[in-house]
Amino acid sequence: MKAQNVTVIGLQWGDEGKGKIVDAVARTCRYVVRYCGGANAGHTVNVGSQRYAMHLIPCGILYPGVHNVVGNGVVFDPTVAWEEVEALRGRGVKVGPENLHVSSAANVVMPWHKLADRLSEVALGKGKIGTTARGIGPCYADKAARSTAVRVGDLLDGDGLREKVAAIAARKNAVLSALYEAEPVDAEVVWREYAEYGRRFAPMVANTPALLRRALAAGEKICFEGGQGSMLDIDHGTFPYVTSSAVTACGVPHGAGVPPSAVGRVVGVVKAYTSRVGAGPFPTEQDNAIGDHIRDRGKEYGTTTGRPRRCGWLDAVALRYAADLSGVDEIALVLLDVLSGFQTVRICTDYKTDGKSVDEFDPTAAALRRVESVYEELPGWSEEIVSATDYGELPATARAYVDRVEFLTGRPVGIISVGPEREQTIFHNTQLEGLA
Ligand code: IMP
Repeated sequence: MKAQNVTVIGLQWGDEGKGKIVDAVARTCRYVVRYCGGANAGHTVNVGSQRYAMHLIPCGILYPGVHNVVGNGVVFDPTVAWEEVEALRGRGVKVGPENLHVSSAANVVMPWHKLADRLSEVALGKGKIGTTARGIGPCYADKAARSTAVRVGDLLDGDGLREKVAAIAARKNAVLSALYEAEPVDAEVVWREYAEYGRRFAPMVANTPALLRRALAAGEKICFEGGQGSMLDIDHGTFPYVTSSAVTACGVPHGAGVPPSAVGRVVGVVKAYTSRVGAGPFPTEQDNAIGDHIRDRGKEYGTTTGRPRRCGWLDAVALRYAADLSGVDEIALVLLDVLSGFQTVRICTDYKTDGKSVDEFDPTAAALRRVESVYEELPGWSEEIVSATDYGELPATARAYVDRVEFLTGRPVGIISVGPEREQTIFHNTQLEGLA
């Protein structure tokens, strides 16, 4: 029987711990593919005493024999990617054309994108989005604009790249100096630097959509590794406080160049609570001692930016929406251990606007700002659960919490994570092949 592909996505506002789940799935796959976002992501995998934080390189890189693909839908910052390649090699991980493939059609994050991201946020002041300053939005904007875009394939184009960079830099310098009085970037310096990255990555640059379609035809198993979280999706998230790419499972076919049937089983990664970094509405936020406690226990500080994350209770209304949007088959409930020690825990089960239940979830910031969260309260658990290896070893109240998540989302909880290590994983109701 043909192996079923797996798509791993975040169902909240990012930082759900997708890295650990992709790592578990990658073990059973031949390909791991990033299809959205860029170096704004920070996917962490713990292997024994080693901690790997990946931004652009797919998490499958830690397994020999797994092909890792940076898809066409990713915005590729070669400066960050090269640093990652070197850091991995320095730790004995093999990275090269045999296991890393970068789409020639992926758009390149250029220096002016990072500059524009930073300066725009400063200019927006209180109205800022709270981006990761990685140049993500400006790069996707240029992708849509087309004439000011640089693709990975262009980096290999010698004099063609020189001309392109000169023309684009002239336009960017004019705009950035007029808007923000920015110092001009030197096109020749940029060309030399990026041509050098082109040389370094050249053996790994490929027509990855074609590569993946060949893999599909050969029946190879693929894991699609989502970035960010569904509530940050450009079309379906809390606009305008979102990232600039299609991060849900709906983004897979487009961002990887595969047919929708390739998506396979969709795993929605969910924290046992909610966190958000950056600005924007957050209905279950606890800007109080509860939120502080969750942040401390969950070490809720950004992998990419180090920013403290906003924390709050689980929001089953937003979860149902995100799960329906991507056709989630099962949930991976992570960081359940962080909730130990609360006498009672809460889950938001409904929203009200002007005293009336909200029938249809509207993710836009303007609508979400108006909602009031309705909670149900459940008994908490005082025990530490970090060494539980089986569902039956969890305290009855923690099991009741998991059951409630299943009921409220209408999805089985396939995997429960009780700590950062590979071993701290309970395979519960999972239908993923080769894991339980
Ligand atoms: P950008 O993607 O850097 O443009 O940031 C836009 C919004 O998405 C900001 O609120 C960021 O904090 C958020 N964001 C982007 N990437 C991630 C992520 O990987 N985890 C959590 N939040 C993210």
